[in-house]
Amino acid sequence: MNPLLLAIETSCDETAVAVLRGRVLLASEVASQGAAHQPYGGVVPEVAARHHLRHAPRLLARATRDADISLGQVAAFAATSGPGLASSLMIGASLAKGLALGFDKPYLAINHLEGHLLSPFFGSEAGIEPNVALIVSGGHTMLVEVSGVADYRVIGRTVDDAAGEAFDKVAKMLGFAYPGGPEIERCAQGGDPARFDLPRSMLHSGDANFSFSGLKTAVRYLLPKISPDDQRDLCASFQRAVVDVLVAKTIAAARAARCRLVTVSGGVSCNGELRARMSLGCEQAGLELRFAAPLLCTDNAAMIAFAALLRLERGASTPLTTEIDPNLALV
Ligand code: KG4
Ligand code: ZN
Repeated sequence: MNPLLLAIETSCDETAVAVLRGRVLLASEVASQGAAHQPYGGVVPEVAARHHLRHAPRLLARATRDADISLGQVAAFAATSGPGLASSLMIGASLAKGLALGFDKPYLAINHLEGHLLSPFFGSEAGIEPNVALIVSGGHTMLVEVSGVADYRVIGRTVDDAAGEAFDKVAKMLGFAYPGGPEIERCAQGGDPARFDLPRSMLHSGDANFSFSGLKTAVRYLLPKISPDDQRDLCASFQRAVVDVLVAKTIAAARAARCRLVTVSGGVSCNGELRARMSLGCEQAGLELRFAAPLLCTDNAAMIAFAALLRLERGASTPLTTEIDPNLALV
């Protein structure tokens, strides 16, 4: 069965539409709103919703054109139904429901976190192997024991800021553009990661939880004491502190779960330092490692389409009466 699937993602500040035929990606359109939120240093829900309204129909037209399909050929329509910003979620979900209703095809409501979680397996025919998954994004930092599709156990999460949020907040303190993760990574290049001794909170907490707000505060106190020439070292030291905790806790969780495969997904998994140090750590620990492809790390609709396909293959569909849920839990 190679159904044609169309998915829409509008959970936060990326408007995205993707078309999948079976496991083959035919089109993936993403419109980022970074510039629109730039003056505010973070995502403004009202601004995000207006952008989704403006861009979603345009991306829908472009995706079907790139995929060389008509909407009437689509076998099922999917959308992210949570977690995320209510006004943003509503736009993508309403559009997908309207299409499902108009073309009399199934609708699939997909959890954004499940989209990230399954993205390291994107396109794979082999199925979802059991793994310990690190989801690390602007809104979430969590460790999940994955036994198969729809079979998840959350084993840890951040108790305050998400790792991406810490990147964004520190970037804002430094006057960098939003989103701050890529800016910090760029600034850290060639910097000395051992120059500033920053906290690795909860590294030895004995559980799989994270905390990044203390690190952010430590940077805030340090900033007035350093010169602009020290920025490179500060970014390198901050990035190393985040990565050290993510790597150590992920490996410890995999060992505790007696799982030999680690997966990493979400926006922060674009980070080169995280990729390099997680690879090294897993190799030393005798663990296999799978990252989401770079284009699938930040928010996109291809990952939502893939999660929808795996759900559809299990016979799932969602009633049109199902509402979006800004606080939707993974399990
Ligand atoms: O997955 P995503 O697009 O959205 C959420 O679901 O939150 O993740 C966005 C987050 C932002 O916080 C952004 O700063 C971070 O991912 N990010 C990075 C990098 N690229 C994106 N963080 C560190 N290094 C990067 N290269
Ligand atoms: Zn995301």
